[in-house]
This record gives sequence, C-alpha cells and structure tokens, in this order.
Amino acid sequence: MFILPLLVLSALAEAVSVGQRRRVVRSFNVHRNKSSDTTPLQVGNGNFAFGADVTGLQTFKPYAIMSTWGWHNFSLPTTPGQTSVDDYRGMQLWTHGRLVTYEMQNPAENDITNWLRENPHRLNLASVGFAFGCPNLSSSFVYHGSTVKVETWADPGSDTIAVNVHSKLLKRGLGIFFDFPSPDNEKFNAPFVGHFNLTSRHSTALERLSSNTARIQHILDETTYYTHVAWDGPGRIEGPTEGTHRYTFATSQSNVQLVIIFSPTPNLPTSTTYARVVSASCKWWEAFWSSGAFIDLSAVQDPRARDLQRRIILSQYLVAESGLVNNGWHGKFHLEMTLWHTLPFARWNHFPLLWRSQPAMHRQFLPSSVARARKQGYRGACWGKMTDPSGRSAPGDINALLIWQQPHPMYFAETEYRSFPNASTLARWDDILTATADFMASYAFWNASTGVYDLGPPMYPVSENTDPNATVNPTFELAYWRFGLDVAARWKTRQGKPVPAEWLAVRDRLAPLPVVDGTYAVYEGIPDMWTSNATTNDHPAMAGIFGLLPPPPPASGPPPDGAVLRKTAAKIRELWALEDSYGWDFAMLAMNSLRLGDPEQAVEYLLHPIFQFDDAGYPVGGSRVPTPYFPNSASLLIATAMMAGGWDGSPGKTGHWPSEWEKDVRVEGFMPAL
Ligand SMILES: *[C@@H]1O[C@H](CO)[C@@H](O)[C@H](O)[C@H]1NC(C)=O
Ligand SMILES: *[C@@H]1O[C@H](CO)[C@@H](O)[C@H](O)[C@H]1NC(C)=O
Ligand SMILES: *[C@@H]1O[C@H](CO)[C@@H](O)[C@H](O)[C@H]1NC(C)=O
Ligand SMILES: *[C@@H]1O[C@H](CO)[C@@H](O)[C@H](O)[C@H]1NC(C)=O
Ligand SMILES: *[C@@H]1O[C@H](CO)[C@@H](O)[C@H](O)[C@H]1NC(C)=O
Ligand SMILES: *[C@@H]1O[C@H](CO)[C@@H](O)[C@H](O)[C@H]1NC(C)=O
Ligand SMILES: *[C@@H]1O[C@H](CO)[C@@H](O)[C@H](O)[C@H]1NC(C)=O
Ligand SMILES: *[C@@H]1O[C@H](CO)[C@@H](O)[C@H](O)[C@H]1NC(C)=O
Repeated sequence: MFILPLLVLSALAEAVSVGQRRRVVRSFNVHRNKSSDTTPLQVGNGNFAFGADVTGLQTFKPYAIMSTWGWHNFSLPTTPGQTSVDDYRGMQLWTHGRLVTYEMQNPAENDITNWLRENPHRLNLASVGFAFGCPNLSSSFVYHGSTVKVETWADPGSDTIAVNVHSKLLKRGLGIFFDFPSPDNEKFNAPFVGHFNLTSRHSTALERLSSNTARIQHILDETTYYTHVAWDGPGRIEGPTEGTHRYTFATSQSNVQLVIIFSPTPNLPTSTTYARVVSASCKWWEAFWSSGAFIDLSAVQDPRARDLQRRIILSQYLVAESGLVNNGWHGKFHLEMTLWHTLPFARWNHFPLLWRSQPAMHRQFLPSSVARARKQGYRGACWGKMTDPSGRSAPGDINALLIWQQPHPMYFAETEYRSFPNASTLARWDDILTATADFMASYAFWNASTGVYDLGPPMYPVSENTDPNATVNPTFELAYWRFGLDVAARWKTRQGKPVPAEWLAVRDRLAPLPVVDGTYAVYEGIPDMWTSNATTNDHPAMAGIFGLLPPPPPASGPPPDGAVLRKTAAKIRELWALEDSYGWDFAMLAMNSLRLGDPEQAVEYLLHPIFQFDDAGYPVGGSRVPTPYFPNSASLLIATAMMAGGWDGSPGKTGHWPSEWEKDVRVEGFMPAL
C-alpha cells in the first residue's frame, strides 16, 4: 500500500516549459476598470504589502500598507488591579480531577483581558494617493483615466514601494499625498484599516533631508516609525494640512519617480532607486513562476478547468505576496491556521518561502509554549492560539481550549523530510517535535475505567461550536494525535535515538474514533449527530482524517474504516450546512473525495458556489469571516497539489483528476502528499 514517493513523482512528471508557464500565468493578469469596494490590487514581498485602488495608489479607497513589524498598543487600563499584563490570571477549570489554568476570558478581569486580546494590533502604516490641486482634476482623472499613467512596484528585499507617474497634470496641481491613520480596537478592520480623523491621538513630523529626500516620523503612543520619500528631479513635500496628518508632494515635471521606504528606524534602510526596485521585482517574480511546481490545465476542454486554473494562479500570487490586506482578529497569528497558510510553499516546492516562517515561527514561540504547558501542569510545549510576536496567546474561551494546532509541527516536518530526507532536516525540527510530543502525550488522560487515553474535556474541537465541558475524543483530534506521535517516534528512530515509551503508549492506546450510525462523529457521545442543525455546521473536520491526514501506517494504529468514511462523506454532502462553511472546509472535503476515489467530487468542492474568489483572485470570506480570507487560497493550493502529485498509496497516474481531464493535464515538480 505504501510506495516510494519518488517513483510516483517520476510517473507523474511531465515538464511544462518556462514559456508555457509564462503563457498560463499571463493569461490571468488582473485588469480592473474601477476600484473594488472590498479588495485592493496588491504588490508586496511577503513581509510587506501595498494595497492599491484603481489609480495604482490609494487615492479613492484607503487600502492598507502593512508590514510584519508595524504593531501598536493602546494604553493599559487604569482599572485598579488590572493595570499590568501580569494582573491577568485567566480561569481555572477542573480538568480530570485537578484545577488547570486556562488563558480564558475572566469576567473579574474584563478590562485587562480585553486589552490583551486587542493589543498589540497590526498597523496600517500610511495612505499614499493622488492629491488633486484643482477641483475639476478629480473627475477628469476618473473619466479619462489614461491621462495619468502610474506604475507601482514593491521591492522584494525591503519594505519599499516605487512609483512612476507620468502626466501633464503633475505640472498643473496633481500631487501625491501621504496620510497617516490611527488604529482602532475593532475585531475586524476590513476592508480598510485605521481612521484618518482621529488626528489628536497621534503625531507626525516632516524633515526635509535634502532637495529630493524627506522623512516623515509617525508617533503612536510607544510605536514610532518612519516613511522615507525620495524622488528624482525637482519636487517638494509640504504639510501637514491644518487639522490632519496629510502631507503632499508636488513637482514641476510631467514625469516623476518616487521611492517610498517604510522602516521602524530613522536611518534610511536602503539606498534604492525606482529602476532598481523594478528590476529586482521582475527578477523575483520571474524566478518564482519559473521555479517550483506547476499545474497546466490549459489543454483541458472542460470549462471548469479554466476557472480552477485561474484560482490556482491567482492564489499562488496572493499567498506568496503577502496576506497583509487588512486586520482580522487584531492582526495576530492564529497558530491552528499556520498549517494552511504556509504548507503550500512546501507542497509547491517553494521551500525557501516556507523557511521564512517554518520552523522559525515554532522556534520563536517555543519558550512561551513551554512556559504555558508548565503552568498548566503538562510537560513539553503547548502551542498558543491567537498569538502576538512575543508568543502571548490572547485570552479567549476558544483560544484557550482549541488543541488541533498542537501536531502541526509534525505535519510540516514530515512534509519537509520527503523533499530533504537528511540529517539537517532531522536536526532542525528535533527539539520542536520532542517538546510537542511531550505535551501531547502528557495532555492525553489515561481513563482507567475504559483503558484508553482520552482527549478532553474541556476542549473545543476544530468545529468551535460544541460544549467544551462535554467535548471528549473528537474524531479529527484523535487521528491527528496518533499521526503526530507517530511522526515524532519515527523522527527519533531515523536519528538512531530511543523513542520515549510514553509517546508510543499514548499513540497505541488512544480512544477509538467515535462512530455513530456508521459515520464518524464530531466527538464521542455527541447528541443528535445527524439530526440537529446545531451539529451539522461549522468545520466538518471528520473529513480531515482522510483528507488532510493520511491513514496511519499499519504498525501505528488501525486504518479508518472505508465504509464509515464513505458514509460520513455522503452524510456531509447531504446534510452539512455548507452554505455557512468557509475557508479550508471545501479544500479539505476535496482532499477527502480524492482519497475516496472521487476526483469529480473534489473538483466540485473546489468550485463550490460558496467557495468564491473575486476578479483579482481574492478569497471571499462569506457569511462568517471578512474578505479576503486567505485559508481559502492556501488550502486550494494544498488540495490541487494533492491532485497533481498524488499521495501515498494513490493510484499511479490516473484517478487524481476527473477522467476526461487526465490526458490533457500537465504537471511538474510535485511530491506526493502524506
Ligand atoms: C476595461 O476596459 C478595457 C478597455 O476599455 C476593456 O477592454 C475591458 O474589457 C474592460 N474590463 C472590464 C473588466 O470591464
Ligand atoms: C505591547 O505591550 C506588550 C505588553 O506590555 C509588550 O510585550 C509589547 O512589546 C508591546 N508592543 C508594542 C508594539 O508596543
Ligand atoms: C479645469 O482646470 C483646468 C486647469 O486648471 C482649467 O483650464 C479648466 O478650465 C477647468 N475646467 C473646468 C470645467 O472647470
Ligand atoms: C471618522 O472616520 C470613520 C472612518 O474611518 C467614520 O466611520 C467616522 O464616521 C468618522 N467620524 C467623524 C466624526 O467624521
Ligand atoms: C538537506 O536538506 C536541506 C534542507 O533542509 C538542504 O538545504 C540541504 O542541501 C540538504 N543537505 C544534503 C546534504 O542533502
Ligand atoms: C472514562 O470514560 C468514560 C466513558 O467515556 C467516562 O464516562 C468517564 O467520565 C471517564 N473517566 C474519567 C475519569 O474521565
Ligand atoms: C464549563 O464549566 C465551567 C465550570 O467548570 C463553567 O464555568 C462554564 O460556564 C462551562 N462552560 C459552558 C460552555 O457551559
Ligand atoms: C435550525 O433549525 C431551526 C428549527 O428548524 C431553525 O429555526 C434554525 O433557523 C436553524 N438554524 C440554522 C443555523 O439553520
């Protein structure tokens, strides 16, 4: 049943020439004739992004400029006893006979709890747009857009935007403004981030450094950063306009090139020019599209193939380019989502992009995660949920009780090992996997009366809609625990090190996957599994045990029951509230369909009417989350990589795509999925 990945790869590989890649990618270039009300067009470099409206800047729609370093705190509460982060204690819940402290909402500490959730939050660094000197210019620009030519580029190596503007109007009052917003504490800032009318809350200062450079300092409480502006030829920045933080650049030439560099330090971080940014950006994207894996569906006759190809290409662009569009959940990192967000880089053979964040992110959060586990009386590292750069997980009931982020390091490590099966891969992940497995083993509770290890209560499963006090042994988490401990054990064996006996004991004696009416249930003992609409909504994670996760190797656990898997998939299709589903649900269901031998259904899920991508490829959030919601894009890439590369035990060259597509699909560079 298990075959060597490389054999599968060679059977599937068919080169797609660089010229053909270019044709496919270019056929999905995005054109807009008016601004969208919900999404920008973006340029970025993965650490920094600039969202533009139809003018190429942020003239009419204040889309954001965001970075990985721009964060801000509001001042701490002044409520007695809640004036410092150390005053937050969380909540204690009885957990298998002992009191465990959870980072939950504590009603007695509401003010500091809310502060910790809302701070720090990510900043929109500025807004850069056209300033219309004479009143009629704005409409003439809108009605005759061609009179102003703009090119906007992001530097791949620094937080820099380069802008070229060509227009006679520059000589007649058309300027470029720089404005600076103040953040707010809303849970979602979408589509725009921050407010430009709270001017007394923050301050800015302009320094003219030379005849063609200037620096604007922006101070928001403890946060200070700088916008450096450099231009060619004559020009001058004035401002701020009375009662605002708006500065305006004007020139007497009909063509101007500006370089705008954002930085937390006052020193100019790079000396760059418009031409250098353009050349670096072209090189970076050329290299991106000509390397890595590729799927070419252009020869497939079925009209659905073009839509799928469009989603694939634009998702690749957006996932590589940033994700920094707006502020959801205060701009924090949600560790359960990191698998969806960054795994595509591994699956599409863009490992250098994966290595920007993995395992670096887990290494950065290791000390705080070890401290969290110790405080709760467990060994190893308990990964947080809604996390800030220091590793603090924001207080919240779901944040504290969700557990499916714990085995993610094993998924990353094992995926990376398929491409780089060597000692340096083993060494890089070893301490992280060890700490993770130690926590997972000590978290599982030995139930002496049933003779199995239980997960929970209290806990929230992937679908965050159950009673945490009643939730025990959820299907997906049990399967993921078994998978994670098994990978951790293999990792030790590969290094010739002993496997801790406790990991194997838990792996081998976890509670069985709960079955109700011949289907996998959300959790053991869930009431009304398929008869209540309270149960059949949110993430259908049971599909994940055969979608995202591989079945366990024979030595490490019983395989999932094929008949039960099929009946579960059928019930989900029939009864689940897919109209309220979002994000990666569709990709996970697609992967489940693939392993069940139904690629036609997989394509249907990936093109489901609720799983939408707008004209620029941005994933539409739907009824429950704001747009864009990037787990859609990332999970689509994971599912399509599985179609292209197959998976362990998959049929050789056929069975990954609808049968009439197979002869015309060309793919290259994929490893089989786990
Ligand atoms: C935008 O305008 C161009 C030129 O007028 C036209 O060819 C194109 O079809 C328009 N695109 C959209 C999406 O309306
Ligand atoms: C925000 O406050 C927290 C807690 O005091 C601190 O760790 C963090 O560095 C602060 N961040 C910023 C951007 O001020
Ligand atoms: C618009 O502004 C231009 C330049 O300032 C001027 O020549 C023209 O007459 C104005 N047009 C209208 C309709 O006001
Ligand atoms: C301030 O701007 C926000 C949008 O950022 C708007 O919703 C609000 O109404 C404005 N407030 C005032 C007093 O103009
Ligand atoms: C081992 O894998 C790493 C990636 O983790 C790669 O950079 C390196 O070249 C590989 N080394 C050998 C000796 O194959
Ligand atoms: C052991 O499992 C049974 C069946 O799920 C459950 O009723 C019981 O509460 C568990 N025991 C403990 C101590 O959690
Ligand atoms: C779970 O139990 C705790 C007490 O142990 C209680 O405070 C909490 O409200 C319960 N949660 C729910 C969702 O019922
Ligand atoms: C669930 O069913 C009840 C009763 O039929 C209905 O009132 C409710 O709107 C439904 N809820 C959802 C989320 O569909």
